Amino acid sequence: MAAVFKKKIESESSGQVVNPWEVFVQDGEKIDYDKLIEKFGCQRIDLSLINRVQRLTCLQPHVFLRRGVFFAHRDFNEILDAYERGHKFYLYTGRGPSSEALHLGHLIPFLFTKYFQEAFKVPLVIQLTDDEKCMWKNLSVEESQRLARENAKDIIACGFDVTKTLIFSDFDYVGGAFYKNMVKVAKCVTLNKAKGIFGFSGEDHIGKLSFPAVQAVPSFPSSFPHLFPGMDNLRCLVPCAIDQDPYFRMTRDVAPRLGYSKPALIESSFFPALQGNNGKMSASDPNSAIYVTDTTEDIKNKIKRYALSGGKDTLEKQKSLGANLEVDISVKYLSFFLEDDFELEHIRKEYGEGRMQTGGVKNRLTEVLTQMVERHRKARAAITDEMVDAFMAVRPLPSMFE
Ligand code: TRP
Repeated sequence: MAAVFKKKIESESSGQVVNPWEVFVQDGEKIDYDKLIEKFGCQRIDLSLINRVQRLTCLQPHVFLRRGVFFAHRDFNEILDAYERGHKFYLYTGRGPSSEALHLGHLIPFLFTKYFQEAFKVPLVIQLTDDEKCMWKNLSVEESQRLARENAKDIIACGFDVTKTLIFSDFDYVGGAFYKNMVKVAKCVTLNKAKGIFGFSGEDHIGKLSFPAVQAVPSFPSSFPHLFPGMDNLRCLVPCAIDQDPYFRMTRDVAPRLGYSKPALIESSFFPALQGNNGKMSASDPNSAIYVTDTTEDIKNKIKRYALSGGKDTLEKQKSLGANLEVDISVKYLSFFLEDDFELEHIRKEYGEGRMQTGGVKNRLTEVLTQMVERHRKARAAITDEMVDAFMAVRPLPSMFE
């Protein structure tokens, strides 16, 4: 009771709730990312850090980094310090397979992780938390496992390199060294602590209490003895959306007590729903999101009908006053997916100063997203069961740092 009460107070005082299971703000409000950074205790990614990535990788930083989609971090600078001294790291990210079709928001961490893997030439582990979704979404074990394999195809379609990437499902993989680490982590976290971090209550079943240890331990290289034998000091970098931060706060808290390095994090903001900025896309409302399975017609209609416009309601007003770019979802989506910096700036200026109308911006967005979804559809159609097996095989990755 006390914990629930405290949580309520906390969420009311900040006007927003962000945790692994819910993201919402009060009506008419936007997520305040500065407040989140302060509350969670992470750091903002600044220009000097982005420039450093550019220098170290000799590549133009990804749009998601240049435009602040990935905006917060923990110890990312330490990863770069070590990299500069010739020490590599590994990447860890994941997905809870709760739905058949992914929407664009789901692709963001994977598109970004692919860029990072290529830019730094490092191995990657991808956790499919079929156990998590079985427990939280009330799916059967079999259905969660099926969804994990289906989602693996979408993930592979993002272009990962099978010689550097392990994808694993918790139901299949957990055991051995991984399980030993889970038990070590679990012994370090009291029920009171878990309630504080995750808001668990007495009504939650005990499966939920045991899960955070499962998401924590891929952060430790010793959980993957076939990948990282004798590399216990290899550091881990986790790209994720900021709602996953509580899991890694817990992980970073226990790591030193186990003699392990803390995982570093690089964290993204949420991809907003078509209807506006006040949360993330919801898999349960098909009209709030563009799915990778949507047809060109679907994409066109959804953008036309639902994408919140910051344009004025008459042509005259739009011409004299211009659009409110802050609330305009089409401009926001273009800032995620239109690669050309000059074209984006041009659209912002013309639309913001009234020389362009909402319709024109929406048409351009429709083109960009159609192209992206089409590319994904083709890539996914080419993924065979054998390829999924290859990514999911428990094996060494001999050229993972090349
Ligand atoms: N809990 C995440 C989800 O529901 C899945 C996940 C597992 C994850 N491990 C991760 C996400 C590491 C980011 C980084 O989608």
